[in-house]
Amino acid sequence: MAISFGYGVLAAFFAITAVFASPVALPDVNTSSTQAHTQRDFMINKNTQYSSLGYTWPNNKVTWCLNADKEADYKTVRDIADKSWKKWKDVIGEKSSLKFAPVDDKELECKKYRGKVDMWEITLNYKMHAGSAHSGYMYQDNRLNFDPRPIYSAMDAVVNFAHEMGHAFGLLHTHQRPDAWPSLLKLNCRNLRDYDSLAKKIGKGKVDDICKTLNRRSAAAEGFSAAELLPYSNYMKDTSKEIVQNGDFDWDSIMLYNSEAGAKDGTLALVKENGSKIGINTEVSKGDGKQIENLYPKGK
Ligand SMILES: *[C@@H]1O[C@H](CO)[C@@H](O)[C@H](O)[C@H]1NC(C)=O
Ligand SMILES: *[C@@H]1O[C@H](CO)[C@@H](O)[C@H](O)[C@H]1NC(C)=O
Repeated sequence: MAISFGYGVLAAFFAITAVFASPVALPDVNTSSTQAHTQRDFMINKNTQYSSLGYTWPNNKVTWCLNADKEADYKTVRDIADKSWKKWKDVIGEKSSLKFAPVDDKELECKKYRGKVDMWEITLNYKMHAGSAHSGYMYQDNRLNFDPRPIYSAMDAVVNFAHEMGHAFGLLHTHQRPDAWPSLLKLNCRNLRDYDSLAKKIGKGKVDDICKTLNRRSAAAEGFSAAELLPYSNYMKDTSKEIVQNGDFDWDSIMLYNSEAGAKDGTLALVKENGSKIGINTEVSKGDGKQIENLYPKGK
């Protein structure tokens, strides 16, 4: 899989080829909690001096451009981007000043503006069965590698794109919250698509150990897809203060992987603590929207 696990987080939303699963009921949320849908944060820390992940976008504006070969791709991506932004906009409402717009209404080609405009550079890739993007703003290095076919992750290009937008804005994978492990989540490590090839390379024991010890860093170092599933360390929350984690776990988040993401056909990878399946979230949740309001508040 052509996924880079380079510097910082180039978070992937990776391949699944299984057919769209039958809908799974979302778990109960504690609606009596005053925190319900108000604070469910898992995102970059916008107040940190140094972050290996990313920062908030200057002027609360994300401008995108496209690297593509075919003219038709420009229309395709414009359509996907508009629909995905609508999903966010409908939830964020007027409470945030975040803007998301193409670099130009007609000319979307990145190379025309490179070096002049701060942009989120989208590159189409029909080979990767995945999308990957940095979390937050990374100065001259804001990229999205995107496969627009509805054949992976949420099985829907607009939903997949909306997930990647969440990363660009500064949201992290909900399931990578340090406090969700092991109380809420579990990973069936051996069901990951790249488990067998890595086991062949470094030994089953070592791979199992990465999962057992929730060692995301080692997974990343091995180029193992578990790096997209295992939790960040508390160090990043408590000491380096690169991430913010607040409130209840958001089971409705568009930033949460479903159980089939990255799993071998017919199996489940990320599951609830009791082994049950996590369904596909197709909408931006209220909690996701609230995070955007926190990162990009109105009038700031
Ligand atoms: C597993 O846990 C979820 C969420 O806590 C719950 O809704 C579900 O009923 C449980 N499933 C089983 C089989 O225990
Ligand atoms: C739901 O939230 C309320 C208020 O925060 C809390 O008192 C209660 O214990 C919670 N219930 C559960 C089942 O977590």
